[in-house]
Amino acid sequence: MIKKRVGVLISGRGSNMESLLEAAKERSYPAEIVIVVSNNPEAPGLARAEAHAIPTAVIDHRPHGKDRAAFERALEAVLEEHRVELVCLAGFMRLLTRDFVLQWQGRMLNIHPALLPSFPGLDAHGQALKAGVKISGATVHFVAPEADTGPIVAQAAVPVHDDDTPETLATRVLEVEHRIYPLALRLLAEGRVKLIGNRCHVAGIYPAADALVVPREAHLAPQVK
Ligand code: GRF
Repeated sequence: MIKKRVGVLISGRGSNMESLLEAAKERSYPAEIVIVVSNNPEAPGLARAEAHAIPTAVIDHRPHGKDRAAFERALEAVLEEHRVELVCLAGFMRLLTRDFVLQWQGRMLNIHPALLPSFPGLDAHGQALKAGVKISGATVHFVAPEADTGPIVAQAAVPVHDDDTPETLATRVLEVEHRIYPLALRLLAEGRVKLIGNRCHVAGIYPAADALVVPREAHLAPQVK
């Protein structure tokens, strides 16, 4: 099998990156992670990637100041050097220019910790709690010029609990992030994802069937009087 060559871009912890690295260890996985790039020299994810013996590169955005294009030229050079075919943003905190995004259109994924288009941008969990939603989740989508938009490849839903804080909700959502990112990359690398208008259709899989109902219908606790 010829595997797709993937570059993962991070800025921090790198747990989603690690979920991709773990998945890619499977022989039948259709993608290999060939380079992890961080814009932050202090990103803990760099050590995580090195522990998996994956090449890493740091392209510090700070020397480039406001010159995003210069930062991206350096990034592009690293991606080219490693013959990257697909890019996964995994907690990558830099906004990318329209030109860069269009260059990678249909070949660059991002993960966001909410059910987009709800709660884009920063503090998705705080936004979800403030809005009082009963269900939140995670989204993997193609990157489009406007942040946290772009055709959705995969989503997973989790319940929001009454006593949730942004931190407890983040922990629950992160678990499903680690499931859907490797799934979405697999589907893309296998060529199963077809873009029809703004919708991604996925070929050759059974449709999902379960509903998540919150609060749950069964096992009601005795009613408090
Ligand atoms: C994740 O919640 C991801 O959805 C968001 O930033 C966080 C990054 O976490 N974009 P990690 O660095 O992958 O652990």
